[in-house]
Amino acid sequence: MDRHEHWNSIYRTKSVADVSWFESDPQVSWELISSVSSTPGRVIDVGGGASRLVDRLVASGFESVTVLDISEIALERAKARLGKAASHVHWIVGDICQIAQLSPCDVWHDRAVFHFLTEQEDRRKYAALVTRTLRIGGHLIIGTFAVDGPAKCSSLEVCRYHAASLARELGPRFKLVRELTHQHITPTGKPQQFFFGVFELLPQMDDVPVTSEQSS
Ligand SMILES: C[S@@+](CC[C@H](N)C(=O)[O-])C[C@H]1O[C@@H](n2cnc3c(N)ncnc32)[C@H](O)[C@@H]1O
Repeated sequence: MDRHEHWNSIYRTKSVADVSWFESDPQVSWELISSVSSTPGRVIDVGGGASRLVDRLVASGFESVTVLDISEIALERAKARLGKAASHVHWIVGDICQIAQLSPCDVWHDRAVFHFLTEQEDRRKYAALVTRTLRIGGHLIIGTFAVDGPAKCSSLEVCRYHAASLARELGPRFKLVRELTHQHITPTGKPQQFFFGVFELLPQMDDVPVTSEQSS
């Protein structure tokens, strides 16, 4: 089964509040986003699915809110919940590893998507796309399963991370500015360890002005 069909079949057969990653209040994500952004700003939730994070983002007056997901069924669920407010969101259906370009943003949020990229080439494409999309000084917030988190989710293998391994995947332009671990409790009561990293996109070395000291 391809990725698109895999995720659609989950959203088609399970109710939103029954999936293992469900959060009635995406509190950690919200706290991290608010700590790095000043509204009005441009934020994208990558692999946002039917998460309730978008409700908060819209209510908080961000200049631009985008939710991207491979599953159109997930996004339909989110739109139905939001009602009229859904018209304030840019909805994109697509595989993050196949997208060539996105509109520039100040904050890129990803909870529980990057860890499904088990192929090096997919991770390389993802990191290249974030680098092209975030403004310099903007923030990338990623939540993945931690090294003591589950080895699989939704029948798929995952890669688990700590600060150093995630930073290695993203490359030297991403400076880790904050990290935390969080225990998520699934709707069936199982604990899952997450790692969250907040990274700032640094300028390319060519973009950094040479000081007089350096040039002499
Ligand atoms: C574990 S769920 C997390 C959903 C949401 N971020 C949350 O915290 O509630 C993973 C989400 O990523 C989406 N997804 C998986 N692979 C993807 C890909 N390659 N590109 C875009 N979305 C993807 C799935 O459809 C699903 O909605």
